[in-house]
Amino acid sequence: MSYQKGVKHLQERGITKLPNKYILPFSERPNLREIAVGPAIRFTTESNALKLPVIDFSHFCGPNRSQALASLAKACEHYGFFQLINHGIPSDVIDRMMKASRDFFELPFEERSKYMTSDMRAAVRCGTSFSQKRDNVFCWRDFLKLSCHSLPGVLPFWPSSPPDLREAGVSYSKKTKNLYLELMGAIVESLGVAEEGAAIHQSEKSGLEEFGGGSHIIVANCYPACPEPDLTLGMLPHSDYGFLTLLLQDEQVEGLQIHHQGRWVSVAPTPASSFIINVGDHLEIFSNGRYKSVLHRVVANSSSTRFSVASLHSLSFESMVRPSPKLIDDQNPRRYKDTSYADFLEFISLKEHKGKNFLESRK
Ligand code: SIN
Ligand code: FE2
Repeated sequence: MSYQKGVKHLQERGITKLPNKYILPFSERPNLREIAVGPAIRFTTESNALKLPVIDFSHFCGPNRSQALASLAKACEHYGFFQLINHGIPSDVIDRMMKASRDFFELPFEERSKYMTSDMRAAVRCGTSFSQKRDNVFCWRDFLKLSCHSLPGVLPFWPSSPPDLREAGVSYSKKTKNLYLELMGAIVESLGVAEEGAAIHQSEKSGLEEFGGGSHIIVANCYPACPEPDLTLGMLPHSDYGFLTLLLQDEQVEGLQIHHQGRWVSVAPTPASSFIINVGDHLEIFSNGRYKSVLHRVVANSSSTRFSVASLHSLSFESMVRPSPKLIDDQNPRRYKDTSYADFLEFISLKEHKGKNFLESRK
């Protein structure tokens, strides 16, 4: 059986047992004992579901800004995740992106396979699991990665099918990049380091321009219904490597879980009008550990396919991030080494990116 063809392909073949390639060692399997029997897609009990802090983006402009900044700081310190509402990205931009992503995974394997490559720097990369070349056990996930950093130059490399993907992707990438920059502006202010710029080493650049020049990738994920969801995961526990991830998650099908106060808790599906935002490793480094890049994973389920679209924002290839000097003092010694995006790429080319192992390696 060719696992390289991905999990959509396996689902379409109607498999009823999980192939060994997908079966996690016992200790790494999710505990889905709380699965409710019945037609409901929500499968966790209320006690296992987490209500993320809600940040109202409209409050950043106007008289409530300082209160909104305080809530933002609290969410980044205690959860590493929050739900962002009233962010101003028009719903048609979001709906088109979600639809184009879903349509991509409906394409025949032969069409999708044109974009399969193990080159982590490729402008477009389609695949399954995390790294087909290296993963011993595969995750129950297919993905499409679109690099947005060098748009419009990279656009001709993006899939030409489905027909709306390029246009939908370009407007979505512009809007999410702007939102990211606004959020980073609020974040540096909430840390009390707005004046100082980003503590990113890069020649003459200063202030928020540095974030503007960073790498931006859109990742569309497809987690088909799985015959034995308790034996596998859609994504293994990991932290995101960049500054921030803006996640558009499925409106109906649950799957994302975050590690909060020592246990795995589910994030309930959220309307497409809001984003789930999470702190990545670069921001944990920049904040000298104050804002947390939190472990998260995706669980599979047996009844419905789940989709998500993550917009990942990180350093550019040439830059370094270091803890902001203003956040280092006798009580808070420097906790991380200078770190570049290239360090991350080198790390994952040698080792599996598991849990928070990359961030740990930067201490
Ligand atoms: C991710 O962690 O990048 C994706 C999470 C999700 O699919 O909800
Ligand atoms: Fe992630």
